Amino acid sequence: MKHLFLIGIGTGNPDHLTQEAISAIAEADLFLVPRKGSSKSDLVDLRVRIIGQVRDNPAVAYFDMPVRDEMQPYADRVHAWHDEIARRWATSLAERPDADKVALLVWGDPSLYDSTLRIAERLMPRPKISVVAGITSLQALTAAHAMPLNDLNAPVTITTGRRLRDEGWPEGAETVVVMLDGKCTFQRLKGTDYDIWWGAYLGMPEQVLAAGRLSDVGPKIVHMRARAREAHGWIMDTYLLRRRT
Ligand SMILES: C[S@@+](CC[C@H](N)C(=O)[O-])C[C@H]1O[C@@H](n2cnc3c(N)ncnc32)[C@H](O)[C@@H]1O
Repeated sequence: MKHLFLIGIGTGNPDHLTQEAISAIAEADLFLVPRKGSSKSDLVDLRVRIIGQVRDNPAVAYFDMPVRDEMQPYADRVHAWHDEIARRWATSLAERPDADKVALLVWGDPSLYDSTLRIAERLMPRPKISVVAGITSLQALTAAHAMPLNDLNAPVTITTGRRLRDEGWPEGAETVVVMLDGKCTFQRLKGTDYDIWWGAYLGMPEQVLAAGRLSDVGPKIVHMRARAREAHGWIMDTYLLRRRT
């Protein structure tokens, strides 16, 4: 492989694909695709479907996603997992030495809470790496609620459910976007009053939204999330919180 394309595909809506992404898909010699088998296997299908929209008979090299060793401390566990994914990519690619341009379809955009770039940097010899920007879940959330991301001239903090749980409201923050939260951590916010804009399956036919004063709408979101997760077998959600002034 001489050139690796990391192509942002947006958040599950085939219409999120940019013209640049379509061109990169059309040019690739080979696609690296994580194999089915997870509870989110419909998302794997979506990647294959997206490639199929642009190409007939694309060459695909599948790899199995390794399982993280939950016994290790968080950082060690993630580093070891990335090392192992890079090894699996290399093994799959070794079977296709003729493929110069290889593409990986990345959910949303590769810059936002995604480690594909960090894994790609482990490849030896290191190929040229190009990124095609995709629509992030954050953009899909603000678009779905037809709202601006920031207040006038104000900063935005993007964080995870884990950090909100461990550290509470980020110091001095006005607007906080929370991703990777499987536990509705907004329930832990006490004291000050907040507004919330929440969305699950953003950009997909299953999309669900809720917004309002956190104290009013928070319990409803917990209920909606549990019901949707049960119905589909998986869920991805993102929310934006603002301090009420
Ligand atoms: C590993 S991160 C990947 C983010 C992705 N790179 C992006 O640009 O949005 C996964 C998190 O993104 C958010 N997410 C991704 N797709 C989503 C969707 N369709 N609807 C709601 N949230 C989504 C969720 O917070 C999920 O836990």
